[in-house]
Amino acid sequence: MMDYIESGDVKMSAILVIFGGTGDLTHRKLIPSLYNLVLDKLLPEHFAVVCVGRRDKTLEEYRKDIKESVSRYSRNKIDEDVWSKLQNMIYYYQFDFTDTEGFGGLKYFLEDIDQKHKTEGNRVFYLAVAPEYFETIVHGLQIGNMADRQGAWSKLVIEKPFGKDLKTARKLNNKLIEVFDENNIYRIDHYLGKEMIQNIMVLRFCNLIFESIWNNKFIDNIQISLTEKLGVNSRGGYYEHSGAMRDMLQNHIIQILSLVAMEPPVNLKTDSIRTEKLKVIQAIEEITPEFLKNNVIFGQYGKGFIDGTPVPSYREELNVPKDSNTETFVALKLHINNFRWAGTPFYIRTGKRLGSGSAEIVVQFKDMPNILYLKDTEMQEPNLLVLRIQPNVGVFFQFNTKDFTTHHGIVPTKMDTSYETPTQGNTPEAYERLIYDILRGDATLFSRWDEVEAAWTVADQIIQYREQKKSQFPNYDSGSMGPVKAFELLAKDGRKWWNI
Ligand SMILES: NC(=O)c1ccc[n+]([C@@H]2O[C@H](COP(=O)([O-])OP(=O)(O)OC[C@H]3O[C@@H](n4cnc5c(N)ncnc54)[C@H](OP(=O)(O)O)[C@@H]3O)[C@@H](O)[C@H]2O)c1
Repeated sequence: MMDYIESGDVKMSAILVIFGGTGDLTHRKLIPSLYNLVLDKLLPEHFAVVCVGRRDKTLEEYRKDIKESVSRYSRNKIDEDVWSKLQNMIYYYQFDFTDTEGFGGLKYFLEDIDQKHKTEGNRVFYLAVAPEYFETIVHGLQIGNMADRQGAWSKLVIEKPFGKDLKTARKLNNKLIEVFDENNIYRIDHYLGKEMIQNIMVLRFCNLIFESIWNNKFIDNIQISLTEKLGVNSRGGYYEHSGAMRDMLQNHIIQILSLVAMEPPVNLKTDSIRTEKLKVIQAIEEITPEFLKNNVIFGQYGKGFIDGTPVPSYREELNVPKDSNTETFVALKLHINNFRWAGTPFYIRTGKRLGSGSAEIVVQFKDMPNILYLKDTEMQEPNLLVLRIQPNVGVFFQFNTKDFTTHHGIVPTKMDTSYETPTQGNTPEAYERLIYDILRGDATLFSRWDEVEAAWTVADQIIQYREQKKSQFPNYDSGSMGPVKAFELLAKDGRKWWNI
């Protein structure tokens, strides 16, 4: 039996070059994902990984470090045979990438590896480094003639955040497309690699019962909640320049929104899907001063308790100024102005240090007219379809049935197919899927530039409003579900957030 995938028409042999090889992302996500890909026999026969870092390490030391990371973070226990296969593919290359001349040395190093592993000159350059280095590295790759090589392909993988606003995102993109073709740029939004996010399209487009009522005639409102119990911990310095808008809304939430609301694509090709997603972002209602005043709530966490343990306020976190105006929570209501969705509100919330940590999409269907049943009590519970993304993965559905314990009662019945990860499901990590897709050249789960640009156009206006506004922060306790105003946002429409 083969212990690598058949490449078929797609030439997958390549060297994966990870800039940031000693960093947190590489240790916690990328290397454990590679381990699981080896285990699942999803890597090509001719493959190698070159990890670039500044620290002085021998290859043995580096391999020892990453073995520890695999033991700690992989969803599968370490198997010595599998580990041995992976470690023989991995190399450490020490250099400071702000030194442009150093790229020449890296080029020769990679050519040697090509010989050794028969990787045919193909490259994936993965930038797992702070965003301020993206342009520096791409420039180095350009100077070192490493991006555009005869007879071989080169791909670029960019971690988030992609710019800090529309202007910087455009500047970064202009640099990238000077060196790499748009088709070879993979802008990571790791949320898109999550199983349940991919399942949104399957649920919608493989089930008549959902897709036929997936519109403003039958759906009362849709809620997207990405809530976290975690605070910023040691990442205060980063978060201070990001906030919830840049960290979650501009990328993950807008991507989820576009998958939930898109029209069926004409086929499953990358560009067909991306084009439909883009149309959703372009149809988001105009962000007017009226919209900002009435439909957007910002919050910042104060002290409180998470699972009974006292936690500090955001302003007491490391590297956060005592008068910080950064939002750790945002809730908003928006409309998508197209024929399918006109009039159906989308409520969105995301925040840190909340009482529960989960990612869920709740679709609330319209009520039946209370003509036959429940006339007097007005107790009808709506049909709810909940797509659970994390920590549980699966689908929850609520519908009304007769209460068999009484003569005439009606009760909401709950069907739940979701399971807790990783104990029962052990679903692949998002990064496994993403790395695999990059090698196959499938960019469906990555953002195209025009999607990123459209998302920034929306987010930027909200961010500018927030930055000009001096907010009364902190305005919610850690362990609560956010500011009171976030509840009022729905209450004034006669609705509520569902915490399923
Ligand atoms: N960590 C996560 O969970 C996570 C999640 C989503 C997205 N991201 C994104 O992923 C990227 C990396 O994040 P991270 O948390 O892994 O960062 P990190 O732990 O700070 O790692 C930074 C890496 O960059 C290397 N580096 C910095 N300056 C260098 C230089 N001049 N020359 C060579 N290497 C240099 C460091 O090497 P040395 O240590 O050897 O100096 C280290 O390997 C960021 O864009 C972040 O936003 C991270």
